Amino acid sequence: MRLRRLTVLISGTGSNLQALIDACHSGRLSVEISSVISNRAGAAGLYRAARSGIASSVLPHTAFNSREAFDTALAELVDRSAPDLIVLAGFMRILGEAFVNRFAGRVINLHPSLLPLYRGTQTHQQVIDAGDAQHGASVHFVTAELDGGPVISQVRIPVLPGDDAARLAARLAPQEHRLIVATVELLARHTVECRGQAVLVDHVTLDNPLRLQTDGSLCP
Ligand code: GRF
Repeated sequence: MRLRRLTVLISGTGSNLQALIDACHSGRLSVEISSVISNRAGAAGLYRAARSGIASSVLPHTAFNSREAFDTALAELVDRSAPDLIVLAGFMRILGEAFVNRFAGRVINLHPSLLPLYRGTQTHQQVIDAGDAQHGASVHFVTAELDGGPVISQVRIPVLPGDDAARLAARLAPQEHRLIVATVELLARHTVECRGQAVLVDHVTLDNPLRLQTDGSLCP
């Protein structure tokens, strides 16, 4: 995939969108964020897009009678921006099979856990409740299975004594920003394919997700 145009889907703060915008401005990413779509009006991420002159739209899921109807409208809106890659960055809606199949292999999601651990929501609390020593975030290709698509990359952080869900989330956030930027950079510079449950980078299957290093690179 020659990656030129990105569409970013958000629902809220958009700090990961901001990390991508900043990486484009600094020249680290030579891609264009051609469109930002939010399912919530008033999402702070919309202002981040506006400040950077990026076209944005709001498609409220509440305006649709069914999940399928929302997905169809969203797919049409996404198609209009002709993206090479769709990034779900804090997009809090589950996308159905029709949407996922239409953009197969071109949708990635940032998820705040070390997948396959803790799909869905409340991941930080689940880490605390389980007494895990480590937490982290994953970027994976989106398939019809919720948070179940093949994982491209991960970042790990230790769980420290005294951590609660809020502290963990706050410490993970900057690492998520680094991870999403590094992963989009990987997709821009290499051939990264999703085949079933496998991820191939330059035609070689990954045995494990790539790990984000302190220098911002991704290594096996
Ligand atoms: C991130 O923690 C991401 O992992 C999760 O939602 C949060 C989005 O944050 N899916 P932001 O809107 O990018 O600030």
